[in-house]
Amino acid sequence: MARLTADLSNGITQLTSRRTSRLVWCFPARRETRVASTLRAASDGIASLTKIGILGFGSYLPSRVMTNDDWAELLDTDDEWITSRSGIKERRVAADDESTVDLAGAAAEKAMADAGVSAADIDEIIVATDTPEVYLPDTASYLQHRLGAGEVTAFDLGGSGCAGFVLALDIAKSRVQSITKKILVVGVELTSRLVSRTNRATAVLFGDAAGAVVIGAGDEVYAEFLSFDSGTDGQHTDILKLETGGTRRPFSIEEARREAHKDLIMDGREVFRQAVRRMTAAAENVIDRAGRLKSEIGIVIPHQANVRIIDAVRKKLGLDEDQMYVNLDRYGNTGSASVPVAMAEAHQEGRIKPGEVVVLTAFGAGLHWAAAALQF
Ligand code: COA
Repeated sequence: MARLTADLSNGITQLTSRRTSRLVWCFPARRETRVASTLRAASDGIASLTKIGILGFGSYLPSRVMTNDDWAELLDTDDEWITSRSGIKERRVAADDESTVDLAGAAAEKAMADAGVSAADIDEIIVATDTPEVYLPDTASYLQHRLGAGEVTAFDLGGSGCAGFVLALDIAKSRVQSITKKILVVGVELTSRLVSRTNRATAVLFGDAAGAVVIGAGDEVYAEFLSFDSGTDGQHTDILKLETGGTRRPFSIEEARREAHKDLIMDGREVFRQAVRRMTAAAENVIDRAGRLKSEIGIVIPHQANVRIIDAVRKKLGLDEDQMYVNLDRYGNTGSASVPVAMAEAHQEGRIKPGEVVVLTAFGAGLHWAAAALQF
């Protein structure tokens, strides 16, 4: 594996082997653009120059809108508190007859249509979610059947919190590289069904949504993957968790009576601090790994948890306000769906210009974080 780095201070760009840390090539930074596309393949350990990236986008937002004023009628809260602390004005709530696979299926159909492929063309399905259709089996099994896909590999990435979708993209890229041709990656969350509606500290922050992409190889990709970064710091499992239902604290009548299975525990201030630190570092890492400079970033599509977190990350990265895509005012925190929904919207709205470098960066329970750099 190789690592491409650029150092502006001495104008040197260098390619080093990650395994041996030995310098392989070294040349002036101004030649970076010319050689970057050739070396990008090497920097990701790919022998071929075929692009691997996104072939189609899709998203689905339930039609029912719930405003901050609607919440104020149910809980001891108000629009001023929610807006000033989080930036959220409204969120979507799934209809009573909708479940996780309905949201996932709707987003997936749009992504496949955008990519010009049918369910029969999909070689693998990955669903990132913490609010699955049922406890067992996974949502991916339901989705495979719903879409009428072949008997392909399908699995969920659960428990990674809001970092799940970007982590799934990383896995999908490796799978396309090794054996699979087209992979459907979905991020979906129906939090309103599984998280307490009576705890004002968490209930007002979340919304329901699904986002999907089709990943594949070829010259016609919308966006080529340049690099990924991800990591975990398990000493922080306690700052964001839903404990009841696992082996540590099995489901019981007593727990059910007090709705403990919906009791999302969150240390908001610590999650905030960790989110800023990890999302910023992950964004810097993918830019560095892609052999690019921060000044080359076109737009960042961050996990949409809190507008103050997004702004703090923006300042640390030294970017302008219009370089951070924000839609959480309309949708709240949609977990694993937040990045794919925001990416689909940014693309649809023309916020991403052809040739631009786009950075995705996300964090979630675990703590997990994941980022990606893409060239549109
Ligand atoms: N309406 C009104 N008051 C509320 C409230 C609500 N919906 N929720 C909590 N409060 C109160 C609390 O009871 C507390 O009152 P107290 O000071 O009397 O005890 C106070 O508001 C908490 O205020 P503070 O801690 O200053 O809030 P904050 O500025 O840290 O903002 C969060 C709280 C949750 C919005 C913020 O910490 C945050 O966004 N953290 C990150 C959370 C996150 O991203 N989670 C998802 C991860 S994927």
